[in-house]
Amino acid sequence: MSTPELFEFLRFQSISTDPAYAPQVEACAGWLEQKFQRMGLEARAYPTPGHPIVVARNPPKPGRRTLLIYGHYDVQPVDPLEEWTTPPFEPRLENGVVYARGATDNKGQILAHILGVEKTLKETGDLPVNIIFLVEGEEESGSQSLPLFLEEHREELRCDLIAISDTGMVASGFPSLTYGLRGILSMEVRLHGAESDLHSGIWGGVAPNPATLLARIIATLHDENFRVAIPGFYDAVVELQDWEREEWARLPLTDAILKATIRSPFLFGEAGYSAVERAWGRPTAEVNGIGGGYQGSGGKTVIPREAFAKLTFRLVPDQTPEEIEALARTHLESICPPQVRIEITSGHGGEPFLCDPHSVYGQAARRALARTWGVEPALIREGGSIPILHVLRQTLNAEILLLGLALPDAACHAPNERFPVENLEAGIRLNQVLLQELAKV
Ligand code: BES
Ligand code: MN
Repeated sequence: MSTPELFEFLRFQSISTDPAYAPQVEACAGWLEQKFQRMGLEARAYPTPGHPIVVARNPPKPGRRTLLIYGHYDVQPVDPLEEWTTPPFEPRLENGVVYARGATDNKGQILAHILGVEKTLKETGDLPVNIIFLVEGEEESGSQSLPLFLEEHREELRCDLIAISDTGMVASGFPSLTYGLRGILSMEVRLHGAESDLHSGIWGGVAPNPATLLARIIATLHDENFRVAIPGFYDAVVELQDWEREEWARLPLTDAILKATIRSPFLFGEAGYSAVERAWGRPTAEVNGIGGGYQGSGGKTVIPREAFAKLTFRLVPDQTPEEIEALARTHLESICPPQVRIEITSGHGGEPFLCDPHSVYGQAARRALARTWGVEPALIREGGSIPILHVLRQTLNAEILLLGLALPDAACHAPNERFPVENLEAGIRLNQVLLQELAKV
């Protein structure tokens, strides 16, 4: 059973977005480094200006393919904590499912590859390929340190192919090869009114209310069909291909199934596309958080001095974060009412990703997926983003395969995140057969 090590890994509170957890993030990197060393790999946790990057490898042999496996050991914050049935960093096994923050995203998935390599080493004493593990601790906060690290270690990290299990599966027992992901651009909009909060009886009707005006601004992001209404937003969008729409329509991802998965009686989004098409192949503008004014219990008669919204845009080929940032800024600034001052800060960005699932390596991956689950894998795109993919592909000049093990109900980034032991075991097997298939091509 492989769960005791997964439990150890999950106990680290490796939340990368909150500096208070830095010692835990570092301890988690140390645990990984030692795990790799115990397996007989050469391993090192490299310090960076942010969180450590762990690199491990077997002794390279000429004439073998080199596979780099990328993953991340950092996790998202846990709030709302009160929604968790048991504490997020005290992993629990119930009915074959492990519950903990990071169980799926990404500790369970990267550990499956690590344990797969360990198993092959135990069984055969060697690996059929040269392996490099690259496991970072800043993926959930924008992979700030990785680009420079890749530049500086380009030679050691030279590889033929990059495999990543940090994406999804269509359903349990339904293997999937992900050939596209959306990009992302994050942005915070803040409106400033009077210099301090004011009594809303004395000043209501006189002082500008940033919360009211922010609501108006947010309402301009979409039209009545929930299409994004920022001028130029769709100009670079590549329409879905017929084969994609046909292939996706056959998947068990009907509106009814999606409603059940998110436990909402309704779906929502741009008119003219199915839900799967909207999630995988269409761009969006989302409000991730909104605030300003009194948030405590009971009421408080106040006009807030400021209000803010945290936004992200999900992008599809050929949109770029730079172009969308410029369009969004222009739009927001032009519609901001003159009574408040607008302040826009951009956060992380990442390009959308698309690759060819029919390449030689793509076919090897599909054979490995089929051998693991005994069914042909689906070819899918997904809505999430891994901003660093583009940088990995460019810097290392290698093809990328996305072999996800996350189920639709994994609750990534949400309370009660989970990963079935079955998927951990499938992931171990997937790693083993992938190495065999790659050695053949
Ligand atoms: N593993 C996810 C990305 C993902 C999720 C891909 C689902 C495919 C399907 C990754 O760890 C993640 O959560 N990325 C963030 C991006 C980031 C900049 C915070 C995301 O997509 O929100
Ligand atoms: Mn992830």
